[in-house]
Amino acid sequence: MSDVATVLFSEQEIRRRIQELGREITRDYAGRSPVLVSVLKGAFVFLADLFREIDLPVRIDFMSISSYGMHSEETGGVVRILKDLEQDIGGEDVVLVEDIIDTGLTLSYLMTALWARQPKSLEVCTLLDKSARRIPLVDIKYRGFECPDTFVVGYGLDVGERYRNLPVILAVPNQARLEENPDALLPFLPGASPDS
Ligand code: IMP
Ligand code: MG
Repeated sequence: MSDVATVLFSEQEIRRRIQELGREITRDYAGRSPVLVSVLKGAFVFLADLFREIDLPVRIDFMSISSYGMHSEETGGVVRILKDLEQDIGGEDVVLVEDIIDTGLTLSYLMTALWARQPKSLEVCTLLDKSARRIPLVDIKYRGFECPDTFVVGYGLDVGERYRNLPVILAVPNQARLEENPDALLPFLPGASPDS
């Protein structure tokens, strides 16, 4: 279909894994009402599917952070909070929901900022873990998939703000080639005919 990208995780694989994560969180937080904190924009798709698999009175909240430089994957960990949480998480059980943890610098900054608000507990749930590139030591309690050290797109993850609505997660080994031809992934959009 495309030589720019290959399917890394299918819709069915993603759905199944999220059901498992939802069951795990439901079990671990039985009798409690955790707050799922998600970082815009990439993680909102994962959060939307994940929290509907959690059989608890969960609450959700969002943060938005800036990343410096053209590519959000090169934040260097220097992030600024653009939109803060609406709820006070002091004394709450908080789960930080991320789309992908790459170097871990963004996560480690966020964890410090969230711990400062004195939640009762704080854990991390990420759909993808690109552990090969990890710099700081971060403890990830819930992990959807181990992700190879390649650029990935879809299911919330963008390239130049596009393709967040892909139902699958694609591996894009050569990002420069995609940037030359940004329409290359259109056939992967929902409803596109497979050989268009
Ligand atoms: P970290 O600080 O290096 O862990 O960066 C994590 C952030 O970089 C994620 O929240 C994503 O926004 C972005 N990112 C890292 N890898 C990818 C990728 O392969 N595709 C799309 N975005 C990515
Ligand atoms: Mg992100």
